[in-house]
Amino acid sequence: MRSPASSPLPVSRRDFVKGTTTAALSTAALGAVANVHAAGSDEIKLALVGCGGRGTGAAADALGNHAHSNVKLFALADAFEGPIDRALGDLKGQFHDKVDVPPERRFVGLDAYEKAIAAGADVVMLCTPPGFRPAHLAAAVAARKNVFLEKPVAVDAPGYRAVKLANDEAKRRGLSIAVGHHLRHAKNHKEVVARIHDGLIGDLLFTRAYFHTQGIWNRPRQPGMSEMQYQVNNWYHFVWLSGDHHVEQHVHGIDACNWIARGVPTRATGLGGRQVRAEPGIGEIYDHHCVQYTYGDGSYSFSECSQIAGTWSNFSHHAHGTKGRVSFDGNDLVTIHENGKPPLALKPVRDGHQVEWDDFMAAIVAGKPYNELDGAADSTMTAILGRMATYTGQLVTWDEAVKSDLAYAPERIAWDAAPRSKPGPDGIYPCALPGLTKAF
Ligand SMILES: NC(=O)c1ccc[n+]([C@@H]2O[C@H](COP(=O)([O-])OP(=O)(O)OC[C@H]3O[C@@H](n4cnc5c(N)ncnc54)[C@H](O)[C@@H]3O)[C@@H](O)[C@H]2O)c1
Repeated sequence: MRSPASSPLPVSRRDFVKGTTTAALSTAALGAVANVHAAGSDEIKLALVGCGGRGTGAAADALGNHAHSNVKLFALADAFEGPIDRALGDLKGQFHDKVDVPPERRFVGLDAYEKAIAAGADVVMLCTPPGFRPAHLAAAVAARKNVFLEKPVAVDAPGYRAVKLANDEAKRRGLSIAVGHHLRHAKNHKEVVARIHDGLIGDLLFTRAYFHTQGIWNRPRQPGMSEMQYQVNNWYHFVWLSGDHHVEQHVHGIDACNWIARGVPTRATGLGGRQVRAEPGIGEIYDHHCVQYTYGDGSYSFSECSQIAGTWSNFSHHAHGTKGRVSFDGNDLVTIHENGKPPLALKPVRDGHQVEWDDFMAAIVAGKPYNELDGAADSTMTAILGRMATYTGQLVTWDEAVKSDLAYAPERIAWDAAPRSKPGPDGIYPCALPGLTKAF
C-alpha cells in the first residue's frame, strides 16, 4: 500500500470512460447523480472499513436509518481480527438478518480495505484512523462507490490535497459522499446557524470552541507486537494516524466555527504542549492546544482543546455578534442570547449521528447529488493549520499551510515497516517543540 499522503487517485480518464455507460456519462457530465443503486426498494449493501467503536456505531445508524429500510451490512474490513468479531456480534444482536457477512466477506489486514471495496457493496464506510482516509477514499472513488467518511478526513496537507482530488473525481462520477460531522445534521444547530446567517446576532465578531476532556484511551503494547502493530493499534497517540487530538476530535468544534463564519481562516497562531502525557512509550501527541484563528472578514475564532484528567470538561462552541450571542453544546443543546431579551434554550431533539444517515440514504434513494466533503475537508485542514501553529509556535497562513509537503505517514505501510516516530533511549516518543520543530 502506498503512503496515504502520497497516493494519487488511481483513475485515468480512459479508465473512467471505459467502465461507464453512455447514459451514466452524460448524467455525470451534467453533474447529476449517476452511480446509485437504490431506486425504489432496491437493497443497499454496505461495506464497513474500520470496525471499532465509531464504525460499529455508524453501521448501526446506517442499518437503522429512517429513509430506506432495505439496507444490508455486506462486508467488513479491519487491520485486526478482534474488532470484526466484536462488530459482528454487536450488530447481529441488534439487526439480525440485516447483517449478512459470511467469513469470505470478512477481511483482515492493512490491505483489507481493498478487498472490502471490491466485495460488491454500494456504499463504503471509511471509519479507520484518519491517517488512512485519503488512500481509502481514493480507492473507493476509483471503484465507483458511494462513500461515508468519518471525520477528520486527513492528518496533513498532502492528505488534504489528495482528498480534494478524490472528491473532484467523485463529483465527476456522480458519487454520493457523506462525512461524519453529525452536528451539521442536528436540528437545533442547523436551524440556528441558518438564523445566524440571516442576522440573528448581527455581524459576527468571533466564535469560541472548546473540546476539553479528561483524557483518551491507551492500548498498551502487547508482547510480540511490531512497532507498526503497536502504533496502528494505539493510533490515537501518533500524528500520522490521528493528526493529534486537535485534528482528531476538536475538528467538530472547528467545523462548527467555519460553518458559522461561512469560510476558512486566513491564518492561525497558537500554543500547546504535552504537560502531563509524558508516560514512557505511549505516543507523541500534545495534551493541550490553544489556537487563535483570523478570518478574512476580520472575525476571529478562539479555539481550545485538552485531554487532562482533573481539569474542566467541556464540548461547546459559541458565536458572538453585534446583537447577541449563541451557545451550542456538543449534544445540540442551543441557547440564544439576543441583546435585551431573555435567553432561549432549545433542547436536543434527535441525535445528529442518526439523522446524517437518514439524510444520506434519502439522497441516494432519490438520486439527488450529495456531497459533504468540500466543507469537511476544509475544516480538517483548518484543524491541521491550528496544529501547525501550536507545534511550531509560528504564525501560519492558510496559503502556506495548504501547500505544505510535510507528510507524516511512513513511506511503506506494512506490519514489518518502520514508522517515522520512534521512542528515544528513555522510552519516550519525542513530541513537537515550538521554535525548533518543522511542522509545515
Ligand atoms: N463522528 C463522531 O462523533 C465520531 C466519534 C468517534 C470517532 N469518530 C471517528 O471515527 C474514526 C474511528 O474512531 P473509533 O473511535 O471508531 O476508533 P477505534 O480504534 O475504535 O476504531 C478504529 C478501527 O480501525 C481499525 N483500523 C486501523 N487501521 C486500519 C486499516 N488500515 N484498515 C482497516 N482498519 C483499520 C482499528 O483496528 C480499529 O478497529 C476516527 O476518525 C474518529 O475521529 C467519529
